[in-house]
Amino acid sequence: MKKSIVITIFSAAFIVSCGPKSTAVTVPKFSSAENLAQGKTVFENSCNRCHKLPDPAKHDDQGWIKTLSRMAPKAKLTDEQHQMVYDYLISVNKK
Ligand code: HEC
Repeated sequence: MKKSIVITIFSAAFIVSCGPKSTAVTVPKFSSAENLAQGKTVFENSCNRCHKLPDPAKHDDQGWIKTLSRMAPKAKLTDEQHQMVYDYLISVNKK
C-alpha cells in the first residue's frame, strides 16, 4: 500500500520534470487589476516598435498564445512580461 503511494508520487514527479522545458505561456495566470495594468503598459510600450499596436480583438485566446510565442522574443519580453501581456490581451479581446 505504502509502496504504491511512493511509486505514484515518483511517477508524477517524473512526468512533470520531463514535460516541455520552456515556460511557454499557455494558460492565464495573473488576474489582478495590477498585473493586467502592467501587461497593458508592457504591451503598449513593446509591441509598437516594429508595427502598429495590434488590436487585442485580432485573436482569440488560443490565437494569442501562438502569436505571442513568436512576438514576445522579438520584443525581448521576460517570461513574466510575456505572461502579463497575454493575460491583459485575453482580458480585453472579448472572445
Ligand atoms: C522586433 C520587431 C517586433 C516586435 C518588437 C513585435 N513584433 Fe509583432 N510582428 C513583427 C513582424 C516582423 C511581423 C510580421 C511577420 C510575422 O507575422 O511573424 C509581426 C506581426 C505581428 C502580428 C500579426 C501576425 C499575427 O500573428 O496576428 C501581431 C498580432 C503581432 N505582431 C503582435 C505583436 C505583439 C503583441 C508584440 C509585443 C509583445 C509584438 N508584435 C512585437 C515584428 C515585431
